[in-house]
Amino acid sequence: QVKQATNQIVMNCADIDIITASYAPQGDEEVHATGFNYQNEDEKVTLSFPSTLQKGTGMLKIDFVGELNDKMKGFYRSKYTTPGGDTRYAAVTQFEATDARRAFPCWDEPAIKATFDISLVVPKDRVALSNMNVVDRKPYPDDESLVEVKFARTPTMSTYLVAFVVGEYDFVEARSLDGVLVRVYTPVGKAEQGKFAQEGNVAAKTLPFYKDYFNVPYPLPKIDLIAIADFAAGAMENWGLVTYRETALLIDPKNSCSSSRQWVALVVGHELAHQWFGNLVTMEWWTHLWLNEGFASWIEYLCVDHCFPEYDIWTQFVSADYTRAQELDALDNSHPIEVSVGHPSEVDEIFDAISYSKGASVIRMLHDYIGDEDFRKGMNLYLTKFQQKNAATEDLWDSLEKASGKPIAAVMNTWTKQMGFPLIYVEAEQQEDDKVLKLVQKKFCASGPYAGEDFPMWMVPISICTSDDPTCAKVQILMDKPELTLVLKDTKPEQWVKLNLGTVGFYRTQYSPEMLESLIPAIKDLSLPPVDRLGLQNDLFSLARAGIISTVEVLKVMEAFVNEPNYTVWSDLSCNLGILSTLLSHTDFYEEIQVFVRDVFSPIGERLGWDPKPGEGHLDALLRGLVLGKLGKAGHKATLEEARRRFKDHVEGKHILSADLRSPVYVTILKHGDSSTLDTMLKLHKQADMQEEKNRIERVLGAISQPELIQKVLSFALSEEVRPQDTVSVIGGVAGGSKQGRKAAWKFVRDNWEELYNRYQGGFLISRLIKLTVDGFANDKMAAEVK
Ligand code: BES
Ligand code: ZN
Repeated sequence: QVKQATNQIVMNCADIDIITASYAPQGDEEVHATGFNYQNEDEKVTLSFPSTLQKGTGMLKIDFVGELNDKMKGFYRSKYTTPGGDTRYAAVTQFEATDARRAFPCWDEPAIKATFDISLVVPKDRVALSNMNVVDRKPYPDDESLVEVKFARTPTMSTYLVAFVVGEYDFVEARSLDGVLVRVYTPVGKAEQGKFAQEGNVAAKTLPFYKDYFNVPYPLPKIDLIAIADFAAGAMENWGLVTYRETALLIDPKNSCSSSRQWVALVVGHELAHQWFGNLVTMEWWTHLWLNEGFASWIEYLCVDHCFPEYDIWTQFVSADYTRAQELDALDNSHPIEVSVGHPSEVDEIFDAISYSKGASVIRMLHDYIGDEDFRKGMNLYLTKFQQKNAATEDLWDSLEKASGKPIAAVMNTWTKQMGFPLIYVEAEQQEDDKVLKLVQKKFCASGPYAGEDFPMWMVPISICTSDDPTCAKVQILMDKPELTLVLKDTKPEQWVKLNLGTVGFYRTQYSPEMLESLIPAIKDLSLPPVDRLGLQNDLFSLARAGIISTVEVLKVMEAFVNEPNYTVWSDLSCNLGILSTLLSHTDFYEEIQVFVRDVFSPIGERLGWDPKPGEGHLDALLRGLVLGKLGKAGHKATLEEARRRFKDHVEGKHILSADLRSPVYVTILKHGDSSTLDTMLKLHKQADMQEEKNRIERVLGAISQPELIQKVLSFALSEEVRPQDTVSVIGGVAGGSKQGRKAAWKFVRDNWEELYNRYQGGFLISRLIKLTVDGFANDKMAAEVK
């Protein structure tokens, strides 16, 4: 529609040659454009017409040539090997955030929605898919090896969600309970590996779960989930045609480990949530990207908790997202959840832990503050009001405010419009049968006590419980000022007090020494729930890293975890000890911390043993892998010997390692291995048929410690053997594997910067690479060098 008479049309376009363009006003003769002026920097083209295009509707026709590129964005090719060993290419798309313009000229902004009628001309023996179902398929007139496949018209949608795929695939299919046709496409010969995503999770449970949760049906007649060999992100929610890395979709009953199953469940849950939240209702502009990603990163857990209650997935959320977000958001160079962005390169940058993990964490806090029933009402209001349209953060707050009657915008603005989060300092004073609590909030900084001039403030929903009932809040208040005093009635001197039940509030807590002391027995006797033990421990480590409390005191608290049975608590603890151990690798205390780690992990290692016991489940398998890996890396003798024995049997084909034991065994033998160990691992890598196994090996190779072998791993990272999207985790593994590795990886990244930069074109993989490589450095000289 021409809204204002003009002789120019400006649209997005990148790496495309326009051959002809014409505009035909409705019922009038077409006018050919005479000039195509490309503004490459802005990824735009201006079409100039010889006469004025008058106000009114019409048809713009463009004949153009694009490139099937190797950049994993836009319309690109993905390499695969056939069961017969031939190398072939599939043609696939990845448009988010701003790459639809590489496939066709368009107005490539989320708020400019349109319907799409897509036809593909493809070799007749290839699978051709797009967002919608096929409505027509006929021979292509000029070439009998080709067919023309026409797809149904899409609903009104944004360009970044358009997708098409041409290649060779097998599939499994089922109809979900609510009648939607669900197909999982896999590489040829591997249809079996699509069954977990299809039956275990998607078809049977996820779609109806969301339909019920939002009270809005899935609007398309079909949904395809497809595994793509070369794929930059983890997965992409294209409407009706969701694309995945192979490792985020395929599960082999024998060769996939428990953490892969869980990952597939989470990713599928995430992308399917976007079909409503993101696709049906889309953010107005990329500033509100967090709405999409934060929300999906929260609800994926709700969905997995529904499908797999045995995963205890919400506790894992705290370790995977909540603490990770706090880690980043405590840095001076963090950014607010809502951030203004313009150029495409800025858009790429906000696909980070703030949008995802902090976004998810503040939504979890909000959900808790509102309550599930009103939250759902608000969601339904929002999704029905804005369907096929766009919305901004305020629109979601409006709907939730209407549904709950609570001051949602006022509370949430303090979390999304300013960066950072508070540290709440708390002390208690006994007054007869009551305890008087004094709370103070101050911004939490990773670099030490906040010393800024302004005093940022948050509206913090605070819950407090006592040893009377550790699972139920005795008091709930909204802390909306810097300091607060409150009285806990009937709380005896011997009773302990804990803030932040369930580790839901997005803040850290610093207890007075007495209050902390009184909580220790509740860790030891497990009367404090797992997620609270986890949160407490994580706060302590983080306060120590910030220099606010003593590291020695924190390590003493570790003794209280001798009876710890919970996988996620161990996993978070292990992570914190890992960070400490990296720090200490710059000092003379490295050996001592290794001894400490062995002491902490040996009792649980002995309890678990190497082989699953009858009746064990998902979390036992994860815990065993974690503990054995940790002990093995730290040089625990018995673990090392057993790992070597099992590895030998595995390689000789005498006894194949169960999938859950592979990572811990691989990492142990590599850490203490030599060049022949590395060669054996590289051979296993070459032989592996599943991408999961290849990735498993790639991630642990960096554990090797001899300098010349480290170099070999680094060269391997850039070789043909490693898929381009996986190079980053090989180099990251080297940087995280040892002190020598860290230096070598950093040098390698600098030496190969041009190649790496070209490969990832400034996308989010390059930021991940830098983060992984420089994470462990701990002195000013290195900081300056990195800058
Ligand atoms: N929309 C994203 C995919 C994406 C990421 C596109 C970055 C462009 C740039 C998708 O919904 C997503 O978030 N994928 C995650 C996996 C998810 C389970 C957290 C990913 O790719 O890491
Ligand atoms: Zn997402």
